[in-house]
Amino acid sequence: MSNTAVEDLDGLFEQAGHQIEEARDEQELEEVRIRFLGRKGELTAFLRNLANLSPEERPFLGKRANEIKEEIQEAFQRQFEKFKRTNLSRQLENEKLDFSLPGRAIPSGALHPVTLVLREAKEIFRGMGFQVIQGPEIETDYYNFEALNIPPEHPSREMWDSFYLEEKILLRTHTSPVQIRVLEKIPPPLRVISAGKCYRRDSVDATHSFQFYQMEGFLVDEGIGFSHLKGVLSEFVRAVFGGDRKVNFVPSYFPFTEPSVEVLMDCFKCAETGGEKQESCRICGGGKWVEILGAGMIHPFVLRRVSCSSRYTGFAFGLGIERIAMLKYGIDDIRLFYESQLRFLRQF
Ligand code: FA5
Repeated sequence: MSNTAVEDLDGLFEQAGHQIEEARDEQELEEVRIRFLGRKGELTAFLRNLANLSPEERPFLGKRANEIKEEIQEAFQRQFEKFKRTNLSRQLENEKLDFSLPGRAIPSGALHPVTLVLREAKEIFRGMGFQVIQGPEIETDYYNFEALNIPPEHPSREMWDSFYLEEKILLRTHTSPVQIRVLEKIPPPLRVISAGKCYRRDSVDATHSFQFYQMEGFLVDEGIGFSHLKGVLSEFVRAVFGGDRKVNFVPSYFPFTEPSVEVLMDCFKCAETGGEKQESCRICGGGKWVEILGAGMIHPFVLRRVSCSSRYTGFAFGLGIERIAMLKYGIDDIRLFYESQLRFLRQF
């Protein structure tokens, strides 16, 4: 057996071992692998050369060369795994989350003051046994006027001039049509509230908008009188404003109630100046009172039209939600509700 061949093989093994250890990264390691084990690699060349050796040398050197090949491959694999682990921990280190950094605050929204008042009003009436029912915003002339005792050409239609989509189809001017829709379907006893948008061809000013929210309420049962109406509405005002605010029930007129009232509240703007009447006040116009709702005992004609038995009587009311929000939060212009100004809306 030639000593040179054995020495060559041992030398290759040693060199490969050194170079594997010295490789600084995966790329260098791959270069070393190609140098020794690639198609033209040094160990590959040695193995290929085995055929030229004498038959006595071949078995020993062949066996030894294959053992060395396996050992070198294992050394490569170990080194490769080591790089993989180091890379992973380096990556984990680089991508580590720094929990001590202050977070980026997400600006939180808030409910619109009209929504707040709507929700509060619903809760108060629910507490008094009223159920909530929805009505359509697009109404027919029949439900918006006729069934409410307002025939065509009746002068009171002028109070509720609206936006017509087609002849006899309009954006509802109030929530009162819900009374008819419900009474047609559900027999008394009934306690219902229904809130939503209403539309009128009103000139816009500090207390009027062409689109606003109303909440209708009505109660129909045996033996219902005006005192029940007064009791329910007084309780509502007390629940929203506390016991200190002044409420005024004044006679009024609605074609669908008899008798009818308007409920007024003391003007907060004038109250701020010690109750002195401000002739120029844009909330109450100097009258010291702001109308928040219309109400009354449901007219017998209305009940008869929906075939309600004469055993029953009832009251109804229509609250202006923006007006309540204005009085509750001290807002002196209804237009602020619709301008989407964050500086205003963030206060609630
Ligand atoms: C009515 O709309 C009647 N349907 C109320 C009613 C219901 C009476 C049931 C009897 C029985 P009135 O037009 O007064 O009534 O409106 C009621 C409330 O809606 C007013 O008190 C006011 O708070 C509010 N309101 C009316 N018009 C506007 C407007 N243009 N902008 C803002 N709020 C309004």
